[in-house]
Amino acid sequence: MVFRKLTLISLLILSFATFLIIESCKHDPGIMATPDPDPDPDPDPQFCDTTSISYTSIVPILSANCYGCHNDQTANGGVNLKPYETVVFLAQNGILAGVINHKQGYTPMPPAGKLNDCDLLIINKWVNDTTFEDPGGGNDHPCDPDSVYFENEILPLIVSSCATTDCHGTVNPQDDIILVDYASIIDNGKIMPDDPEGSKLFKVINEDEPQDRMPPEPNEPLTAEQINKLRIWIEQGALNNSCDNGCDTTNVTYAENVWPIIEGKCFGCHSGNNPGGNVFLRNYTEVVVVANDGRLWGSVNHEAGFTAMPKNLPKLSECELAAIRIWIEEGAQDN
Ligand code: HEC
Ligand code: HEC
Repeated sequence: MVFRKLTLISLLILSFATFLIIESCKHDPGIMATPDPDPDPDPDPQFCDTTSISYTSIVPILSANCYGCHNDQTANGGVNLKPYETVVFLAQNGILAGVINHKQGYTPMPPAGKLNDCDLLIINKWVNDTTFEDPGGGNDHPCDPDSVYFENEILPLIVSSCATTDCHGTVNPQDDIILVDYASIIDNGKIMPDDPEGSKLFKVINEDEPQDRMPPEPNEPLTAEQINKLRIWIEQGALNNSCDNGCDTTNVTYAENVWPIIEGKCFGCHSGNNPGGNVFLRNYTEVVVVANDGRLWGSVNHEAGFTAMPKNLPKLSECELAAIRIWIEEGAQDN
C-alpha cells in the first residue's frame, strides 16, 4: 500500500514536472528539437571490478537501489534487505537473482528498471560464488549448540515426516507439493525467514484440526521438540546451513551413535501405520532385526540388491556409516 501511495505521488510530481518543462519549452522550440543524449550510459565494462567480491561489495548496490523500499520501516513485499541473513536467504533460494535479472515468475526489481550491467554482474557473481555455509572457510563448521542446521536436522526431519511414499516425495506428490531439498522446502513450504508464524509449513504442522494438520491422520503429529527445532531454524533465518562436529568412532554404542541416526533420518518413514517396505525402526528390538539380516548395512551403504536408504535423502556421511558398520561388527548390542 505504501508503495502504491508513493507511486501515485511520484506520478503526480512527474506529470507536473513534465507539464512545466513542456510549458517552458513552448517559448524556446530549439530545446525541443535537440534530443537529450543518453542521460545514464552503461558504465564501460572495463571499469567493472569483479576481482574480489564479498558482501561488502553488495551493500553499496543494495543501499543505492533497494534499501529505500526495503528497510525495517518500509518493507515492501514483506522484505527488509538490511539484515545479512535476509539477503543470504534470498540469494540461496534464487529469489535475489530472479528479481534483479527479471526472470520469469519473479517481480522485477528495482521496479523502475534493471540495475546497470556492472551491479548485476557483481551481485550475480556473489550469489553464484559464495558458499554461504562456511564463513570461516573449509568444510569444518563446528556445530553451535544454540543453532539448528538445515542439513543436519531440518532436512531429515521434513523428508522423513513429509516426503514419505504417496505424500510429498518426488513420485505422485499430494497437491504437487514436493518437499525433498532446500529449494523445494523453501518454495513449497512458503518459508518466510525470521517469521515462523508467517510460514505455511510451520502453520500446517501446528494445525489443531487433525484432518488439516500435517502430517495428516492417521500419522502422529510432530513432537513439541521437532516443532521447536523448526521454529528456531526459521527464526535464525531459514538458512541452507550445515555443521560438522568431526568423527569420533572410538567407542561406538547403540544409544550414542546409532539411534540418533535412525531417529533423525529413518524413524519418520519407518513408523506409523504404513512403514516403508513394511520395516519398522522404532526401537532397538526392531533395528537389530535388519542389522542382523544384512538389510540395514546393505541399504545404507547402497549395496546391490538393496533399496538405497535413507530414501529421498543424501547418503549417510562416512562418519555415520562407520558408526553403523562398527556397531554391527561388534555384535549390534543394546549398549
Ligand atoms: C521503489 C521501491 C522499490 C525498490 C527501489 C525496490 N523494490 Fe523490491 N519490491 C518493491 C515492492 C512494492 C515489492 C512488492 C511487489 C509485489 O508484491 O508485487 C517488492 C518486492 C521485492 C521482493 C519480493 C519479490 C517477490 O517476488 O516476492 C524482493 C526479493 C525485492 N523486492 C528485492 C529488491 C531488490 C534486490 C531491490 C534492489 C535491487 C529492490 N527490491 C528495489 C518495491 C521496491
Ligand atoms: C522418505 C521415507 C524413508 C526414509 C527417510 C527411510 N526409508 Fe527405508 N524405506 C522406505 C520405503 C518406502 C521402503 C520400501 C522400499 C521402497 O519402496 O523404496 C524402505 C525400505 C527400507 C529397508 C528395506 C530395504 C530392502 O532392500 O529390503 C530398510 C532396511 C530400510 N528402509 C532402512 C532405512 C534406514 C536405515 C533409514 C535411515 C537411514 C531409512 N530406511 C530411511 C522409506 C524410507
